[in-house]
Amino acid sequence: MKNLFTEFNIKNLKIKNRICIPPMVVPLAEEGYVTTANVERYKELAKGGAGLIIQEATCINEDGLLAKKQLGIWKDDQIEGLKNIVNAVHEEGCPIFVQIHHAGVVGISEEPICPSPYKYEGIGRTVIGREMTKDDIKKIQKDYIEAARRAYEAGYDGIELHGCHGYLISQFLNNRVNKRTDEYGKNPEIFVLEILEEIRKIVPKEFIVGIRLGGFEPTIEAGIKYAKIFEEKGIDFLDISYGFSNEMDINVKEDYKYSNAVYAAEEIKRHVSTPVFAVNGINSADLAEEILEETKVDLVDIARGALINPNWANDAKAGKDTGKCLNCKGCAWFAQSKVCPGRVVFERNKA
Ligand SMILES: Cc1cc2nc3c(=O)[nH]c(=O)nc-3n(C[C@H](O)[C@H](O)[C@H](O)COP(=O)(O)O)c2cc1C
Ligand code: SF4
Repeated sequence: MKNLFTEFNIKNLKIKNRICIPPMVVPLAEEGYVTTANVERYKELAKGGAGLIIQEATCINEDGLLAKKQLGIWKDDQIEGLKNIVNAVHEEGCPIFVQIHHAGVVGISEEPICPSPYKYEGIGRTVIGREMTKDDIKKIQKDYIEAARRAYEAGYDGIELHGCHGYLISQFLNNRVNKRTDEYGKNPEIFVLEILEEIRKIVPKEFIVGIRLGGFEPTIEAGIKYAKIFEEKGIDFLDISYGFSNEMDINVKEDYKYSNAVYAAEEIKRHVSTPVFAVNGINSADLAEEILEETKVDLVDIARGALINPNWANDAKAGKDTGKCLNCKGCAWFAQSKVCPGRVVFERNKA
């Protein structure tokens, strides 16, 4: 393997291989606070040999929650618990970023907000998001900035803005969702750029600030446009995934060898020199190696692979079978103890 186990640097941060465990929310937090179970989970993942871990979507305010038991970073007294995750991961020689997140209209808030009114049909509920006022925008931008400060104080090596999968930043960037007529509608990237600019003022230069961006938001052309803008404004990495699920035009040749999200990462990498991560369906070391070689992306994200086998990277390095995710329709790892091989291991380790 001439790529997968080579070192990589983002700024001054050394990443020992090209394997990143991307954010995955697991409902273990208590009212936004870190629990022992959260810490143990990250410790186990860090022992597994990945070069980088990005902590699950961690909410910047209570209104932005996507689930009751999601982690939070909206109060200073949450920093102590977050430090325990950081320390547990660092002790294993692995860097860690935290993904900071607001769900916007797709969250659990009783009165969800959105850049402009949008009817969202979720599982078991239909809501129409209230259009954000300018004051709402400023307040939420401040919450992102404060969350970044807390992340720095907790000792994370960097943050990832959650900018995809239909959450608030994705709602701004997708012009099928964001119908505002002001500057945040005409140039919606401003919402992110203003946050980025303020974060840069309060954290040292070495602190890494990246974004998880929808490659199709709603089209690949828009994905490339945003990636280039964020590169120009100094984003440190682009982790490319899907955009707003009901509002994407995915136009990928049928014979493309990898997932559509990998296609988006490959296309974006052709237009930027900023580090790009690819994700989705990368379920073996051989495939990870091939994608690095052929698409020229810099890191591969192994998500469900690490759920079923937290030791994925070490096993890949040793040439062992890394295990097989069953690709269930809608991964509900935490709820499917009888189905998911990963859940079985988790329960066994806990016992
Ligand atoms: C249980 C679970 C929770 C997830 N939570 C997040 C999250 O917090 N933030 C995020 O950006 N993506 C989240 N994802 C998406 C994954 O990071 C990843 O993009 C997706 O699982 C595809 O990669 P894979 O094929 O390697 O699993 C989650 C996925 C799963 C299975
Ligand atoms: S619940 Fe299914 S899809 Fe999710 S990690 Fe387990 S086997 Fe894979």
